[in-house]
Amino acid sequence: MPDAFILGIESSCDETAAAVVRSGEQILSSVVASQIAIHQPYGGVVPELASREHLRAIVPVVRRALADAGRPYESIDALAVTQGPGLIGALLVGIGYAKALAFALEKPLIAVNHLEGHIHAVLLEERQKGNSDLRFPLLALVVSGGHTHLYLAELCHSDRGESWSYENIGHTRDDAAGEAFDKVARVLALGYPGGPVIDRLAAHGDPRGVKFLPTQIKHPDRRTHSALQKKQKDVASASQIEKIESVHPRFDFSYSGIKTAVLRYVETHNLKESIEVRRKALGAISKPKLEDYLVNCDQQTLDLVASFQRALVEDLVGKTLAAARACDVATLFVTGGVAANNELRQTFEREAAKQGLPVFFPSRPLSTDNAAMIAAAAYPKFVAGDFAAMDFSAEAGMILR
Ligand code: KG4
Ligand code: ZN
Repeated sequence: MPDAFILGIESSCDETAAAVVRSGEQILSSVVASQIAIHQPYGGVVPELASREHLRAIVPVVRRALADAGRPYESIDALAVTQGPGLIGALLVGIGYAKALAFALEKPLIAVNHLEGHIHAVLLEERQKGNSDLRFPLLALVVSGGHTHLYLAELCHSDRGESWSYENIGHTRDDAAGEAFDKVARVLALGYPGGPVIDRLAAHGDPRGVKFLPTQIKHPDRRTHSALQKKQKDVASASQIEKIESVHPRFDFSYSGIKTAVLRYVETHNLKESIEVRRKALGAISKPKLEDYLVNCDQQTLDLVASFQRALVEDLVGKTLAAARACDVATLFVTGGVAANNELRQTFEREAAKQGLPVFFPSRPLSTDNAAMIAAAAYPKFVAGDFAAMDFSAEAGMILR
């Protein structure tokens, strides 16, 4: 396959990122400008502010990525940009800039699905380590602030190089796992984003301290899923319907119940007052450290945080490994912002090993949003000549196929 230097641009949510990646296997540079400080006072991402910050950051971030890679603009073979899913205004900033740059440099432009990017973050790093023979079928759990999806991924080889296709066999019915981390952190006045703080605090609490009922994490088998129903209508015979049903059962998730359970616990155990004290104390510290959080959390709160994380991790791991068994997969990828979570990684490693299933994660910097994963996912499309027309636009709800 030809060597290619691809400049990736990512602006789907609250990180403006650019990276240069060689042939989907070597990161030459990866720059991420985080907007966390901007959104922190609001306890979540404010879409209008995100777009404005992307506009401010995009030019210097791209310039820096090229400088770090030691490559002038003209030496890039192609540009890749996130088309969706994500915040529409945020996506448009990256797409508008990438189009202008591609036009000025007379280079091809490749549109990339953000979720495919998260999957390729794992592939990129495995290739970088020299591991290029992954076994198929491959199951990927993409678990982040906006997404909790299970994909069966397939790799096809042809005279146009390799191409990837994906089948969604499960997704969240309501909140994404990262969203649950962020909402629980907001309820408990632990700041934004919630995942990294809860991750560190959970190690200091008793994960069996608060009991969450299984019904608080509901995940019925969705055989009546609308897409499946539509598919069923499109086929003629009962045997064909049976075939579709039996090929892959669904493995959906649901995390709004556990968030509500935490809220109820706070109300029934009179934690509101101590939460307000913590909100004021942490609000007075510009960048709170772990010790600041610990000083301001009583044992009951630490137990609550640890129990919440344990319940969520057990559900994610249990559901994903059940899907892996049902689909008889040979390899498991776990990727996206929540894949940075220590307990999630350890539990997956331990439980997948019992099944003899190899599990791969991206490094922590590549778990959360970045542009190296976008440039890596673009490489097979570059080889295949799968370029975007200049009139393509952002797709906030883009589906991965
Ligand atoms: O992939 P990402 O950067 O953006 C999206 O595509 O959503 O993921 C961000 C999410 C946030 O919800 C954040 O709280 C969560 O990932 N996160 C974590 C950890 N680090 C980030 N969740 C749990 N544990 C972590 N260590
Ligand atoms: Zn993401």
